[in-house]
Amino acid sequence: MKVIVTGGTGYIGSHTITDLLENNFEVVCIDSLARSTKYALKAIEQITNKRIKFYQIDLCNKQDTFDVLEQHKDAVGIIHFAAFKTVPESVANPLLYYNNNLISLNNVLEGIQKFNIPNFVFSSSCSVYGNTKELPVTEDTPFQEAESAYAHTKQIGEQIIQHYSKVSSTQSILLRYFNPVGAHPSGLLGEMTVNKPDNLVPYITQTAIGKLEQLTVFGSDYDTPDGSCIRDYIHVCDIAHAHTLALQYLIENNNKTNCEVFNLGTGKGVSVLEAIYAFEKVTNRKLNYIIGARRSGDVEKIYANNTKAAIALKWKCRYNIEDAMLSAWNWEVKMKESGL
Ligand code: UD1
Repeated sequence: MKVIVTGGTGYIGSHTITDLLENNFEVVCIDSLARSTKYALKAIEQITNKRIKFYQIDLCNKQDTFDVLEQHKDAVGIIHFAAFKTVPESVANPLLYYNNNLISLNNVLEGIQKFNIPNFVFSSSCSVYGNTKELPVTEDTPFQEAESAYAHTKQIGEQIIQHYSKVSSTQSILLRYFNPVGAHPSGLLGEMTVNKPDNLVPYITQTAIGKLEQLTVFGSDYDTPDGSCIRDYIHVCDIAHAHTLALQYLIENNNKTNCEVFNLGTGKGVSVLEAIYAFEKVTNRKLNYIIGARRSGDVEKIYANNTKAAIALKWKCRYNIEDAMLSAWNWEVKMKESGL
């Protein structure tokens, strides 16, 4: 069965393609390469020994989107990762985010409608919940105001899909990722940052290896046990496998409402300082970090109730924060050794 994966050379997209291929799906990958490189394609081939079809197009271009979707209208579904995802960048340049993340989504949905593609899986984010007091968050926890334009594009994106689902026979699943971290156990695939990273884990590993001088912990006066923000860090391979299960769930026609939502988190809240200690423990290294001011756009604490995905998708997390930190470190070392 053929699946179209947009944003497939990115961090979560590339791990998901690997998981799909290992579960016997055929994959067509689309990416603009605006925020990634073709490296992931080679790595996927090396890990799985399978080839995938690749199209370098920008999904904000409707005609290009339609051209590729028409060629692959026999696909059983589309998994749509393609989007910009840097919270601080979206705070500084909101229009870039509304433009890129929403126009591309709309074009993909129009293509789905035009070519009758039956299933759709959307990359959403726990950032849709905003600064909620209800923890852990369930899929029914009401949205608070978005803390960043990035988060707002995910709220709006979900609403666009929900409205479209009401009038469409395409079945959709919205997957709300918490904080994806770690790397593939082969050491061949992981998070690659074209510029200086914004996310915590690549910042930690790049500091430890000497690419960056020092990590700043953003804020120590939050209402949390150690004063730093709390997140639910989930291994990227666990996130990736959830996409395969979500697609299988849709194909088996288990989707009751035409558009279902699932949280993808471990269910465990970890502070920034605890994440640093986990890294130090598994790598036996001291990290050079200082405590700094809060970063704008950050929520104080968030972690998932993941029961719904566990029951409906029969999904469970295989890795914890220490496994994730060790795999992220192995990947950083491998990148250095191979001059990436
Ligand atoms: C946010 C979204 C997440 C999304 C991700 C995409 C929320 C709650 N989560 O993650 O759903 O997938 O963006 O990029 O909005 N930190 C430091 N120093 C650093 C970098 C980060 O202290 O140099 C801290 C941050 O303040 C935060 C934590 O580490 O508390 C995680 O930050 P980051 O990795 O950037 O992810 P989020 O912004 O939480």
